[in-house]
Amino acid sequence: MTDGLTRSTRRTTDRVLLRRTAELASDFLESLDERPVAPRAGRDELLAALGGPLPGAGLPATEVIEDLATSAEPGVVGMAGPRYFGFVIGGSLPAALAADWLTSTWDQNAGLFACGPSASVVEEVVGSWLVDLLGLPEGTSIGLTTGCQMAHVTCLAAARHRVLERAGWDVEDRGLFGAPEIAVVIGSEAHATIPTALQYLGMGRTRVISVESDDQGRMRLESLAEALPAGNGPLIVSLQAGNVNTGSFDPIGPAIELIRDRHPEAWIHVDGAFGLWAAASPSYRQLLDGHAGADSWATDGHKWLNVPYDCGYAFVRDPSAHADALSPPGAAYIVYGSAERDEFRWVPEYSRRARGFPTYAALRSLGRNGVRGMVERGCRLATRMADGLRDSGVEILNDVVLDQILARFHPADGGDADAWTRQVISRVQADGTCWLSGTTWHGMAAMRISIVNWSTTEADIDRSLAAILEAARKG
Ligand SMILES: Cc1ncc(COP(=O)(O)O)c(C=O)c1O
Repeated sequence: MTDGLTRSTRRTTDRVLLRRTAELASDFLESLDERPVAPRAGRDELLAALGGPLPGAGLPATEVIEDLATSAEPGVVGMAGPRYFGFVIGGSLPAALAADWLTSTWDQNAGLFACGPSASVVEEVVGSWLVDLLGLPEGTSIGLTTGCQMAHVTCLAAARHRVLERAGWDVEDRGLFGAPEIAVVIGSEAHATIPTALQYLGMGRTRVISVESDDQGRMRLESLAEALPAGNGPLIVSLQAGNVNTGSFDPIGPAIELIRDRHPEAWIHVDGAFGLWAAASPSYRQLLDGHAGADSWATDGHKWLNVPYDCGYAFVRDPSAHADALSPPGAAYIVYGSAERDEFRWVPEYSRRARGFPTYAALRSLGRNGVRGMVERGCRLATRMADGLRDSGVEILNDVVLDQILARFHPADGGDADAWTRQVISRVQADGTCWLSGTTWHGMAAMRISIVNWSTTEADIDRSLAAILEAARKG
């Protein structure tokens, strides 16, 4: 029971507890290579193991952790492992995971410099490293968010601030009641988190101007030209670097040129949740050509940088738009506004986790070359998987330009390819060798494979390919 602990018994208990927890964590990591990737328990079993009324009496911490590890384990997805290809999900680099443990241990409130100078300085440092690595303009500011969703909210709040300020409106003080209208242009293939960010910011999910995309999901330039509104009113345009299904990129440079030509004061945002990492590789960065001409960029650390969850980055070219849009009003008990970085001026949060530490560790452990290598390996492995599937007669629906593959399965008897593709996906998930998910691409059911885990090898691809082809054998 915790309420009976003195400080000295606590010290020994902590040591025993944390060592045991480290063992449990290591056991889990070692199991990743062989455990089924899919969870083995559903809601009912997990509720039976974890639920029930909260008992009056507490338990010793070691017992809690043993119980939690045993009861939760069947419902833990092998997402940190090398053969999880669902959604766009990175694993955790060893240094980033270890730094994440320290982050919890230090328990810093990364809202203010005064609450944790190291947390604040580490954010400054990773900000400058990332700006450089991702090819963004010098002086760009950063906010460390929970993920790309909140990075969009951050960037689009800065956008809303600046375009309305130019129209003579202070949105932070007055809100949107009676404000000049903002035209918002997004691609028809924009990720769902863009309309969601607009929803949060009062700009409306569906009152956007949607621009047609091509067969790979790239914004069509001629449609963009038609979609741009006439006049010089407040305008925000969101482009995409890395379609969640195909991995394709909008023609970012030409789109920026076109927009700037017609609307020099428009705010241009880029959703690069995983695609922005192409900037780290000389072989792939041409996909992003011209991206530094935008005003804001959003990406994730928990995808391709392989930092544990709770790690997104919002970058804004104009730090004053960023800080003016996000800074909370002062409060008498808060010491803020110094030369140091007070983190809550850059994100829509007050108190929060010191999420700069795991990013710092990831970048230090990889170095510039390591990030480049990780991105290039993901792309190479995606090509290997796509080639293997294609060679076995599976249809690949996308040009595999990055880490994403869309596969479609046709039954030998000429039957329904949609139903068969969905069935193959379910069979692969149930088999447990690897895990991947499905989607509908231009009306066709497809298997989505995304390869962004740092630990995936050629052998993992070959083993997964064999499992997928086995699942696609009729019968
Ligand atoms: C293109 C794109 N944007 C945004 C997101 C959302 O990222 P997060 O889940 O970190 O908020 C994703 C997630 O896959 C994505 O692929």
